Amino acid sequence: MHSLSILLSGRGSNFVAIADSIEAGRIADARISVVISNRADALGVAAARKRGIDALVIPSKGKVREQHDREVAAILQQRGVELICLAGYMRLLSPWFVQQFPRKILNIHPSLLPAFPGLEAQEQAFAYGVKVSGCTVHFVDEELDHGPIIVQKAVQVLDADNERTLAARILEQEHIAYTEAINIVLSGEFEVTGRRLVGKPSL
Ligand code: GRF
Repeated sequence: MHSLSILLSGRGSNFVAIADSIEAGRIADARISVVISNRADALGVAAARKRGIDALVIPSKGKVREQHDREVAAILQQRGVELICLAGYMRLLSPWFVQQFPRKILNIHPSLLPAFPGLEAQEQAFAYGVKVSGCTVHFVDEELDHGPIIVQKAVQVLDADNERTLAARILEQEHIAYTEAINIVLSGEFEVTGRRLVGKPSL
């Protein structure tokens, strides 16, 4: 059984989508062993507990980044977690943390990277006037919103859109993309050459 963990800081809709996919069998033979939030008031913590999933709050405020990361890593290692899914985790990871879990940390970002990294990506894309945006699930490396891309989904920007309607349509695609990306990574049926992730050729 694959053991997943989710790191979040807020609403938790991507967490819920992943948990739903596991329940529905769209992600097979997996469980969410632990949800970790750096914020006590994250709605995702309440959502996890309601579903009977262990959710821990490890406050980050005022802590040196690596110290906080060491606390989180200790829990993940104790629980033998195989994959760490960042889902609205509003905290930069230290290089130390990233090095502990090579190719085991995934992130979702609400733009077609490398366009619009960082905060408020949907607003950035809308203000820039792009006609297509979307979302990206990628491996985490030591740079922000940067590692090899696993899945991307495109979303048209409509004339009638505002930042909110665009963000809502991107979010629908995020929920689909994360499940696809987790399945690819758990299958192990891929190779990464440089930045490029491709499916393993079938024999
Ligand atoms: C999502 O838009 C995700 O792409 C970004 O933060 C947001 C988290 O939303 N990294 P939720 O907490 O999963 O609902």
